[in-house]
Amino acid sequence: MADDWRNGGFGLYVHWPFCEAKCPYCDFNSHVSRNIDQKQWLACYLSELKRAAAETPDRVLNTIFFGGGTPSLMAPETVAAIIDEARALWHPANDMEITLEANPGSVEAGRFAAYGDAGVNRISMGVQALNDDDLRRLGRIHTVAEARAAFDIAHSCFDRVSFDLIYARQHQTLDTWRAELTEALAMAVDHLSLYQLTIEDGTAFGDRYALGKLRGLPEDDSAADMYLATQEICDAHGLPAYEVSNHARPGAESQHNLIYWRYGDYVGIGPGAHGRLTLNGHKYATETYLSPNTWLTAVAQGQGESSRTRLNRQDQGAEYLMMCMRLDEGLDIDRYMILSGRELPQRNLNSLVDLGMITLDENRLRATSNGRAVLNAVIRELLE
Ligand SMILES: C[S@@+](CC[C@H](N)C(=O)[O-])C[C@H]1O[C@@H](n2cnc3c(N)ncnc32)[C@H](O)[C@@H]1O
Ligand code: SF4
Repeated sequence: MADDWRNGGFGLYVHWPFCEAKCPYCDFNSHVSRNIDQKQWLACYLSELKRAAAETPDRVLNTIFFGGGTPSLMAPETVAAIIDEARALWHPANDMEITLEANPGSVEAGRFAAYGDAGVNRISMGVQALNDDDLRRLGRIHTVAEARAAFDIAHSCFDRVSFDLIYARQHQTLDTWRAELTEALAMAVDHLSLYQLTIEDGTAFGDRYALGKLRGLPEDDSAADMYLATQEICDAHGLPAYEVSNHARPGAESQHNLIYWRYGDYVGIGPGAHGRLTLNGHKYATETYLSPNTWLTAVAQGQGESSRTRLNRQDQGAEYLMMCMRLDEGLDIDRYMILSGRELPQRNLNSLVDLGMITLDENRLRATSNGRAVLNAVIRELLE
C-alpha cells in the first residue's frame, strides 16, 4: 500500500488562477484581475514547494503541469523560478515532462520561446473551435487565425503541442463537427483533447440554460453521435483515445494526466489545487484555499493547504477505479483488490460484459468505446 502510488508516478500541479476574461461555460477556479504582483505570487509558490518537498523527500519528479486559469499570463521568469526550485527540491526524471496551458492569443504566443528557455517542453492550447462565430459564442477573445498563428509559433518552439476543442456546441451538427475535427487533425498534432460541452451550474451558460435561453444545443442523441464520430475519425488518423476525452499518437500521451488516471501521487499548489499524497503508508487528499487572496494570506502565514483527508481503503479503491476506467488501458484487477480490500461484484461484471460495455482480459478490465460513452453508469455498477 505504501508504494502503490509508484504505479502512477509522481507529479507537480501548479495552479495559476487568472484569466484575461471569464468564459461563460467555464467553472474552473479562474478570476479576472488587473493587479497581480508576480513577485508576491512567486514567493508564495516557492514557499509551498518547499513545504511539499519536505514531506516527500527523495522522490523522482516525473512531471510538472502549469494549469489554470491561464498560465500563459505568467511571467516567464516566474515559470523559470518555479521549475528551477522543483528541480532542486526533488530528483528530476531524465525525461521530465513540463507542460504549460496557454490561450492562443498573440501576446501569449510572443512568450512561448521564453517558456521554452524556462524549461517548459510541452504546450497545451485552448483553441476550443475552428470557427469564428462559435468562438464568439463561447465568449473567447481569440480568432481562428490567431489560434492557428499561435499554434505555428508553439510548434516552432516545442516538440510537443496539444490543443483542446469543445464540441456539441450551440448550432453544431454532426457534419460540421466531422469537418472541423478533420481540419484539426490536418494540423501537425500528435495530441488532442476533445471535450463535449458541459453546462455547469454557477456559470453564465448555466444561468442562461436554466432560463431556457441557451438555444441550439444538440440533443443527447446527436451529442452521442458526435462522440462516436470523434472516436472513428481520430482512430482513422492514428490518434486513438487513450482516455475518454484525450487522443494521442502512441507515445505522445500526456504523462502528467496519466499520473492522475493511474492514481499516482501529485502535489497540488496554488489556489484551489488538489493533491494526492502517500505519507507514512497512508494516502491523503489535499485541497488549497480557492480564493487567490485568501490563499496568498494563508501561505504568508504558513501554508495554503485548507484540508487534508486521510483516504480509507474503500475510498482509494473507488478513486482508483473511477480514474483508471477512463483510460483505454483500464483497471488492474489485482491492484484494485489490494487497494480496496474487496472484489468486484461478479454479477454486475457479467452483465456489463454481456451488454458489451466492458471487456475482461486476464487481470485487466477495460471499458469498450460504447462503455466509455456512458462511463458514469458503468462505474456505478462496478462500485455497487
Ligand atoms: C483550464 S481550461 C483551459 C486553459 C486555458 N485557460 C484556455 O481556456 O485556453 C481546460 C480546458 O477545459 C475545457 N473546458 C472548460 N470548461 C468546459 C466546459 N464547460 N465544457 C467542456 N469543456 C470545457 C476547455 O477546452 C479548456 O481548454
Ligand atoms: S476556459 Fe480558460 S480562459 Fe476561459 S475562463 Fe476558463 S480557464 Fe479562463
